[in-house]
This record gives sequence, structure tokens and C-alpha cells, in this order.
Amino acid sequence: MPLSDRLGGDLPRRPVSLELDDIQATVLRYRPEPYYGTHIMLHVSDPRGGREVLRRLAPHVGSAADWWRGDDTWIAVAISHTGMVAIGTPEPSLQSFPEAFRQGMAARADQLRDHGANDPRYWDSPFGSGRIHLWISIFSDTEARWHAAMETARQQYQGLSGVSVLEMHDFGAQPGDLNPLGYKDGIGQPAIEGGGIAPLPGQGRPIKAGEFVLGYPGEAGVPLPMPHPDVLGRNGTFVGIRKYQSRVGAFNRFLQANARSEEERELLAAKLIGRWRSGSPLTLTPGQDDPKLGADPLRNDDFTYADDPRGLRVPLGSHMRRMNPRDTRMAQLADVNLHRIVRRSTGYGAPYDPNATSDAADEVPRGIYFIFLSAKAMATMEFLQQEWINSGNFMDLGPERDPNVGLQEEGAVFTIPKEPVRHRVHGIETFNVLRGGEYLFLPGLTALRWLAEQQGGHA
Ligand code: HEM
Repeated sequence: MPLSDRLGGDLPRRPVSLELDDIQATVLRYRPEPYYGTHIMLHVSDPRGGREVLRRLAPHVGSAADWWRGDDTWIAVAISHTGMVAIGTPEPSLQSFPEAFRQGMAARADQLRDHGANDPRYWDSPFGSGRIHLWISIFSDTEARWHAAMETARQQYQGLSGVSVLEMHDFGAQPGDLNPLGYKDGIGQPAIEGGGIAPLPGQGRPIKAGEFVLGYPGEAGVPLPMPHPDVLGRNGTFVGIRKYQSRVGAFNRFLQANARSEEERELLAAKLIGRWRSGSPLTLTPGQDDPKLGADPLRNDDFTYADDPRGLRVPLGSHMRRMNPRDTRMAQLADVNLHRIVRRSTGYGAPYDPNATSDAADEVPRGIYFIFLSAKAMATMEFLQQEWINSGNFMDLGPERDPNVGLQEEGAVFTIPKEPVRHRVHGIETFNVLRGGEYLFLPGLTALRWLAEQQGGHA
């Protein structure tokens, strides 16, 4: 269902200052509810074949025009650095991409703190091999439209010489629109200036478009550096993909070990994230879940932390408060608006089972392709991993890490502020383990055609 329908009609409009029909739909269009789709990873061994896929796909790739209403099914296409090389992109253009993008996510493991269980050595194939060149994603609101879009995409690449499918991974919402750890997600998103509609209640002031789309002024008043020539960079953005395996057994064992009743268990689950499983924010309903509030996009993000400076409702170290501290006074000052990301994550695999506590449940394929977009995605990801996920200093929490996506060490704790004394919960483990990752460039539609027209490279 498109956003306008979910909000019960037409939305307050704002002037459009972005070239929406040249920007890929994924940048602005929210993930449908419910959602279905597939990620398709392609390898290119002949540059002409690779360029031909892009040329054929271009007319079918969804644009962000009227993104808040209409058809909620679209095809997106993104390219890795090795993919740019494989399709014969001219050298000066290749050199104009940021260094972290050119190196790729696996090579940036140190900067991303991807050590231990998250080390690229343990990633699933084909991640970290440099072989993922083109990444096609189909997003849809119905199974029928998903299959139709899949067929359209398939017709564009199948049978082309020098192009092969490395991996196809279906995704979708679990029953009740929950993710593999049993929570509603995809709620908190930044409002983007010039996108055409007013911010939703609680989204805060719209962020300058240049933070998310190349070619427009960012928060500092000037556009961020973009790849050359302009036709390649403009209206594009960067995507970071991180494939997580959710260790449902370990997560449930942790909850059960630290709660005496189902109520306590659910409260602890809410404290870890900052929202009840239904999506209702703890700030607004600290004592009990309110599923109606969780389901209402006009209310479920409408809060600040002004009345909760010490984290008595939403722990300072909870996932959501770390990832977007909003108006929290932090021990280390940071401009929150410079670290916002657009999230288009997709859940995959078996549904969450609240009773699964075995080690085997940790290995049942299920988890999240965490997908984030930003004009400086690589720098933002490295900042978040270093400062807000795998450290607690910015919230005066010492070495404590994000309880949801932090890489935990022996003896890890999670602090729940309480009167008269805080409660330290022990037994935190790495509940979501990284199993792959890739940096991609998501070109504008003109840029996609430009890439398809280049002549370089050889098979
Ligand atoms: C398996 C991995 C993950 C799971 C299960 C997960 C789950 C969640 C949930 C349940 C929420 C609250 C609902 C919502 O606002 O959408 C949330 C919010 C959020 N998460 Fe995650 N997340 C994961 C990974 C990540 C990572 C790796 C990052 C950043 C690097 C991240 C950044 C955010 C942000 C920015 C928000 C919104 C905060 C806000 O605006 O208030 N998440 N996540």
C-alpha cells in the first residue's frame, strides 16, 4: 500500500525541488507494507554484456516521481566498484569515487569494526569476493506484482553473454509485518527537503537533499563531492548493504534468563530497541504495548526524548536511541542531522519464533539485509559502527555496545536506567551476526543510460 493510502488520503504537499523522475524510486519511496521481493546479484565477465543489461533494464527501473502514491512495485539497480570496472567505466570516472567505495566493504573491516564473528572471513558466498557486480532489487506490495516484476527483470538479463546470476534471495515481511527478531521495523526515516510532501509528525525538520542525493546542497550548504562527470553523479547516491543472520535462539535465551514473566520479557525486549514489538515507542507508552499506536504512521514516530533525559523510559543505550539520539544531550557532541540514513532493509527467512531457544535456532536462515542509503554512506556507516554502535562513550556508557547490532565481547552488559539504582543486564551476546556486505552506487536514470553507452573494457 503506498504511503498516501496508509495515511488515509492525500498528504500535505510541499514544493518539489528534486528531479524526481531521474532519481531511483528506492531513494524516496518507503518500503511497502506488507512487502515482497528479491535481491538478484549478477556477475559480469564481458563488459558489453554488462552494459547491455543496464541498457535494457533502464526503462524498467522505477523513478521517485510521485513516490508517495501510486504503484508500490519497482525495480532498482545498483553497481559495485568492481562492477563499474567490469562494465568498462572510463578510468577517470572510476578514480573519482570515494576511496572506501573503491576498496569495498570487506576491505574496510577495520574501519567498520567488523572483527570476530563479523569478520569477512566468515561471510556467506559471494560476499567479500569482489564478484558481485550488479545488484537488482525488486520491491513489491503484492505477490502477483512481485512475480510480474521479477519476470520483467529476468527478461533483461537472461541469456546475455558474459552475464551470470550469482545469487537470488527472496525477502518479505513476516506475519504481522514483523522482522526476524519479532519487531515491526522500517519506521524511523528522515524527511528529505524538496521531495514533495511535508514531514510526518515527529520526523523533525526536513534534511537538505544533498545528504541523500548527489548534486544538491547538503546540510553545509554545498553539494557533497560526486563522481565525474556530473552526468554520472547527479541524482545518484550510495547504498550500503549488510546481511545479518539473526541468532533467535541466543536472543530468546537472553530474554528468558532475565525475565520472570512474559510481561517482564516483553518489557526487556522493548528496552533493548526503544519500541515495543508492535512499533509503539516506549517514550509514549512506557508501561505497556499499544499496538494501535505502533501501527499508526501519524503517531508512531511523533516524540522526542526531552522528557526522558536520563533514559528512564528509553535507555540511552537502546538501539533506536543510539541510531538517532534526536534531542538527547550527548557526552560527545555530534550533529545528529549529519548522521541520518534512509533505511530500506528487507527481512528474509523463517518467521520469528518466541519459543525457539536452541543453538540450532541460531543457524536457521533468517535475518535482515540491512540496506541504507546516503550520499556519504561509507563515511556514515564507519562513523556509526565506530562511535554509536561499538562504543558507549557518546552516551557515557563506557565500553557498552548497541545490544542489537553491536559486536559483543565476553561479559557484555546493557544498562537500564532506573530509580533508585540502574539495572545492569548481563548475558548480552552478538544477536545479529554479519554474514556479508557490499557498497554499491545507485545511479540516477540518466546516469544508468550513460553507463550503458560507454565503450571501454574487454572480455
Ligand atoms: C539485524 C539488524 C537490525 C535489526 C533487527 C534492527 C531493528 C530495528 C528496529 C526494530 C528499529 C525500530 C523501528 C524503526 O524505527 O524502524 C530500528 C530502528 C533503527 N535502526 Fe535498526 N536494526 C538493525 C540494524 C541496524 C543497523 C546496522 C543500523 C545502522 C547502522 C540501524 C539503524 C537504525 C536507525 C537509524 C533506526 C531509526 C531510529 C530512529 O529514527 O528513531 N539498524 N532498527
